[in-house]
Amino acid sequence: MRDAQPKNIYLKDYQSPLFLIDQTHLRFDLFEDYTQVDSRLVMRRNRQQHQNNNEPLVLVGQQLALLDIKVDGELLTSADYLLEGDLLTIYKVSNNFELEISNRIEPQNNTALEGLYKSSGMFCTQCEAEGFRRITYYLDRPDVMSIFTTEVIADKARYPILLSNGNAVAQAELAAGRHSITWHDPHKKPCYLFALVAGDLMVKDGSFTTMSGRMVELKIFVEPQNIDKTDYAMDALKRSMKWDEDKYGREYDLDIFMIVAVDDFNMGAMENKGLNIFNSSCVLANPQTATDAAYQRIEAIVAHEYFHNWSGNRVTCRDWFQLSLKEGFTVYRDAQFTADMNSKTVKRIEDAAIMRTVQFAEDAGPMAHPVQPDSFIEISNFYTVTIYEKGAEIVGMIHKLMGDAGFRKGSDLYFERHDGQAVTIDEFVSAMEDANNTSLTQFKRWYKVAGTPRVDVVSHYDAEAKSYRLDFKQSTSEAFLIPIELGLIAQDGSVLEASLSSCAENKADCYDGQLFQLTETEQSLIFSDVAEEPVPSLLRDFSAPIKLNYAYSRDQLLFLMQFDSDGFNRWDAGQNLALDVIFEVMQQQKNGQPITVDQRLITAYQGLLQQSGLDYAMLAKAMLLPSVSYIAETQAEIDIHAINNARSQVQAILADALAEDLLCLYEKLNTQTAYLPEPAQMAQRGLKNTALAYLLKSSDPQYCQLAVNQFGTNDNMTDSMAALSSLVNSAYSTAASIALEEFYQQWSAEPLVVNQWLAVQAGSVEYGNLENINKLLSHEAFDIKNPNKVRSVIGTFAGQSLVNFHAVDGAGYQLLADKIILLNTLNPQIASRLVAPLSKWRRYVASQGVQMKKQLQRIMAQEDLSKDVYEVVSKSLAAE
Ligand code: BES
Ligand code: ZN
Repeated sequence: MRDAQPKNIYLKDYQSPLFLIDQTHLRFDLFEDYTQVDSRLVMRRNRQQHQNNNEPLVLVGQQLALLDIKVDGELLTSADYLLEGDLLTIYKVSNNFELEISNRIEPQNNTALEGLYKSSGMFCTQCEAEGFRRITYYLDRPDVMSIFTTEVIADKARYPILLSNGNAVAQAELAAGRHSITWHDPHKKPCYLFALVAGDLMVKDGSFTTMSGRMVELKIFVEPQNIDKTDYAMDALKRSMKWDEDKYGREYDLDIFMIVAVDDFNMGAMENKGLNIFNSSCVLANPQTATDAAYQRIEAIVAHEYFHNWSGNRVTCRDWFQLSLKEGFTVYRDAQFTADMNSKTVKRIEDAAIMRTVQFAEDAGPMAHPVQPDSFIEISNFYTVTIYEKGAEIVGMIHKLMGDAGFRKGSDLYFERHDGQAVTIDEFVSAMEDANNTSLTQFKRWYKVAGTPRVDVVSHYDAEAKSYRLDFKQSTSEAFLIPIELGLIAQDGSVLEASLSSCAENKADCYDGQLFQLTETEQSLIFSDVAEEPVPSLLRDFSAPIKLNYAYSRDQLLFLMQFDSDGFNRWDAGQNLALDVIFEVMQQQKNGQPITVDQRLITAYQGLLQQSGLDYAMLAKAMLLPSVSYIAETQAEIDIHAINNARSQVQAILADALAEDLLCLYEKLNTQTAYLPEPAQMAQRGLKNTALAYLLKSSDPQYCQLAVNQFGTNDNMTDSMAALSSLVNSAYSTAASIALEEFYQQWSAEPLVVNQWLAVQAGSVEYGNLENINKLLSHEAFDIKNPNKVRSVIGTFAGQSLVNFHAVDGAGYQLLADKIILLNTLNPQIASRLVAPLSKWRRYVASQGVQMKKQLQRIMAQEDLSKDVYEVVSKSLAAE
């Protein structure tokens, strides 16, 4: 337990700042045992919003050693201020004044990786959300925007590269081998976008000419051994810059854009103005060390952070309750970019799968919160799939409602109206409304209400009257505005022509032949002149983040798999069919009946494999059975072992039945082309490796050799890792061990590759993996202080190796809780994120649930629980 209960912060308590900071001058003197930070702030009272305010100045700082304070050049005495906890109160200040503060910090001992810290010998910062307060006393809130000038001083031999936001404006050689570089950022920004880097780095140079003809220097800074892994990120950056100009009319606004790769980073990457800092795993790649999946992630994250320059930096958040304003919108923008660069449908399938497995689960668990939350204890806990992915889905729905041109008008107005401001989600919606002369009042419910809306749909065909009716019913008593894309398909697979005869009792324009706007709790669409009973294709393109129920028969699903013109729904029909078959097998297992798999599923998959001309990336998606986590999410009470057994049985039966076709496909696709990280090749490798993984699940042992061969003979990490993974997740444990050993010998000097090696083992779906996890945790390659290693071993174990994490004796839960307790003091953000798998204990069968709960209680009983872990654990245990 903690000494004092951490307090909730409420959106309703928001007040504009009493003081503003026009200029921020920072000087960092970096040494090995401490860093001195001298700040000079040009400040004034915020008279515009607080007319008669004569309040004292209150700054926030965390874990700082205060040296001295001056106001307008006068040194303060201890009677002039109060330092209590994290708050520094200065009693008397005038309306306009300069505040100078000196303090010291110890970056070398900072394991939380917030504020200024050291990573593999270099200094770097992470200030979002509230890390700047670990650097100096400040108004650490996003609605205080300031012009920053930053001088960085360090030993020149150790730290030849000194970086901060904006442009380098001065440099000096100093005594004792030290040097100084001063940076100035002409754009005002909140302190969460501040960044500093000092290290011995090599740079990859590039350039981009903007749409108005300005030349921008592009620089990617990395440790020297990684300079051969920067090409792809540089190209992705240029593609992003071009795309944002073409698609949103957004031009870059500084003469230089820098990216730095660091090994120790809590997140993926950070959009600091002009100086993005990236987790090295999200920027470094070459064909030998990175998989296709890593390349795709790099492209998406480079784009995401770059896009923040407008959606986040130029227009930022008023307070952290508005986090989705920048994150939801930017995730939507990066998803559009990925869709444009690769396959639109595949991207939609991936995003829908994340919503359904991860976000729906979050929304049904103890940490459920609206996209605009109304309270939090620790903001770091709110960088969630709900804020990010559901937030992006909401922006996507606005896009569908406004249409392409309307959406662009809305975003143009938003950027123009709010440039240089810190604003709210409401202001984003207002810009969309104003630009389109429409009201989104009902729609805004999506931002304010947690939980996943369910829509039940029932159809009625009247053969005599030739009329067809779809009845929609929303699960919540107050209706959402839900955009539902739909179409009717005739029995020969063609688009069914039908005219809408009546809609929504007096809402005649609710369906335009494609998009239906469901606005009532109960609403019907009635079509006339319908010659035959159609099959409805509902929620095409996953047009809203909801659960839609319609009682499709298996034959109807087979029909949709084949004939739906919407790629997403073709895929979804296959998933629903497979799901239904797996449910049936679960039932057979439960009843002790013999296992049978509906021949129609096998035939359908066979059809997919033999159908020539199908897009490889789509085929790879269509071949995969719904994941264990997705199946789990559909269950009222989760029995992971029953789910896993049923799914594995279906998978094995499919593998045996399809082996010949799979082998044929594998051989066809296994061409020896020189590796390129481009979409067509990635799709081909993806499908080939899907076939390989299936073959290793069949009962014929000959296919093991296929994986062994692929492992030994290829020029790229994608094929090596796929072969290794298929071996590790198979019964061929000897072959797997040999390959794992060989792999480590080859790659032990490449940390990013070693992390993949750790992860592929930690995520094994074979029973009995727990012992191996303990070995990995004490392996020389593991380091509890490095978040990537923690994610590779502990995160992957709890998230992928489900049958072992949920081991019936509770040992998996205990292992996770042990590590959470250890990380609670080292790195609270990382510790807190690891609680999620335990937090949903109420959803599991009682025998598992009580053991999960027991571990949560054990964590709760710890001394010095961080706010981060406290919030998630206490909410998980709270009475419902
Ligand atoms: N602003 C965030 C990074 C961040 C999050 C910093 C939380 C501090 C606390 C950044 O823009 C981001 O969202 N990064 C994502 C990747 C992105 C592609 C969704 C990440 O780091 O996972
Ligand atoms: Zn972001």
